[in-house]
Amino acid sequence: MTRQPFFYDITLRDGNQSLKKPWNLKEKEFIFNKLVDFGVQAVETGFPAASDMDFDAVRKLAEISPENLVISALARTVERDIIKGIEAISFCKKPRLHTFIAMSPFNMKYVLNKSPQEVKKIAIESVAFSKEEILKVNKNGEIQFSVEHFGDCTENLPFVIDTLKEVVNAGATVINLPNTVERTRIKTFVDMVEQVYNALPEDIIIAVHCHNDLGMATAATVESYFAGATQLECCLNGLGERAGNTNIYEVAVALHNSGVDVPLKLNEIYELALTVADMSKVEIPEKAPLIGPEALAHRSGIHQDGAVKTKDMEKGAYRPIHPTLIGRKDDEKIGFTSQSGKTAVFEIISGAGYPITIQEAVRITPVVKEAAEKAGELPVRNMIDIYFNEVFNVKGDFRLVAFEKLAENMFNLKFFHKTEFFDINAQGNGPVDACLCALKQSGFPQKLVDYEQYALDGEISGSGALAMTVIHFEDLHGNIIIARGKDESTLKANVKAIFNGINLMNK
Ligand code: KIV
Ligand code: ZN
Repeated sequence: MTRQPFFYDITLRDGNQSLKKPWNLKEKEFIFNKLVDFGVQAVETGFPAASDMDFDAVRKLAEISPENLVISALARTVERDIIKGIEAISFCKKPRLHTFIAMSPFNMKYVLNKSPQEVKKIAIESVAFSKEEILKVNKNGEIQFSVEHFGDCTENLPFVIDTLKEVVNAGATVINLPNTVERTRIKTFVDMVEQVYNALPEDIIIAVHCHNDLGMATAATVESYFAGATQLECCLNGLGERAGNTNIYEVAVALHNSGVDVPLKLNEIYELALTVADMSKVEIPEKAPLIGPEALAHRSGIHQDGAVKTKDMEKGAYRPIHPTLIGRKDDEKIGFTSQSGKTAVFEIISGAGYPITIQEAVRITPVVKEAAEKAGELPVRNMIDIYFNEVFNVKGDFRLVAFEKLAENMFNLKFFHKTEFFDINAQGNGPVDACLCALKQSGFPQKLVDYEQYALDGEISGSGALAMTVIHFEDLHGNIIIARGKDESTLKANVKAIFNGINLMNK
């Protein structure tokens, strides 16, 4: 599909009118500049007849708007609103007057108190009047007409289509089909959009404006695009009356993922969302798609495993996009709960800068899990404490009491094996060698296959700078066991690593 969607932003109108404290001119201007930068093609800047504040804001935004941006103002189908609206937008290069009237049987009868024929007449005359007025101030001026409550027009769609044909003849070039209140199936709504699209001349732009009462506004908007709607009316952060309007980020990403060329700077989405949440005082829900704090969090072991394996790939096992597409820098979050597994232990502890192997992660997972069963999601600090305890202080049959250097290449080792005490002097080419000799003399020979020595800086060790020894033993079955020891003294770090290792092998 080559047709490019036309993003018509309604944050400053539908979004703003629903805020507990609507934005003042300065705030509107701030959001307006963000929208321009984001790349929307049209902005509905307000409802000038509603208040002087709205009139001034619409006028100011029209004055500062870039040449290629459509600036729209809302007006009821009454002369005063239309005149005020046109006056406010007359300063921009691409003004659009947006007028509307309800056409659902229910609203015409109980809210407007008018017959369908009266409504039809008002719609046609208002559009004709608007067109005449806007052309007086700008030859490029356009008229958008909305069938308020279009989603409720299932029973009288032929009447609506008939009216729209005349509205188009009267001068409207954009026909907006709102799902003013989302009540039923999306398919019903989208089919109706398609019928209108097929009934009107090809050069008429079909728009949709979907409210999110049942949480399906994004689906309604995206599917309407594929049914013929080009103009998509959306709000930043899904602001808007009641449960809000269609969320622009969700629509943009869904279309992008469907292969549509989306003319927005998608990588600005995350920052923009945070800014709008701050300015509107409408918090982003934890579970909000794409932008929610939890939208990239994984807690089940299976999901964590898939997420980690596909972390650096554009397509992820358990995410709809790569976070950088929307400018999210906080990567997929792995949280440890009773539902999590070894991958999470490894990722969290190594992610915090601590040396941990998969083997160690497997080993300490049951301990971390037990703690999480009681506490819920474990803070990283608690996991690190468990890691230190389990890796650097392995409990078992062997208990180190002391290890001393007596003379060059001569050492003394004191330890318990279960309840038996050993006090052995042994020679060795350095402390590791001497300690292994002492153990051998005591009847506990060990096969050392590798040995490394590191310095842990204060941050990693949790105290001052420390020495860390990593020892690889081979057990009787040929398995490699990795053990660590840390201490201020290198000598003691070595011996602690050996005792941790033999306790691990004898567990
Ligand atoms: O929801 C709606 O129907 C509207 C119209 C004014 C377009 O906001
Ligand atoms: Zn609306």
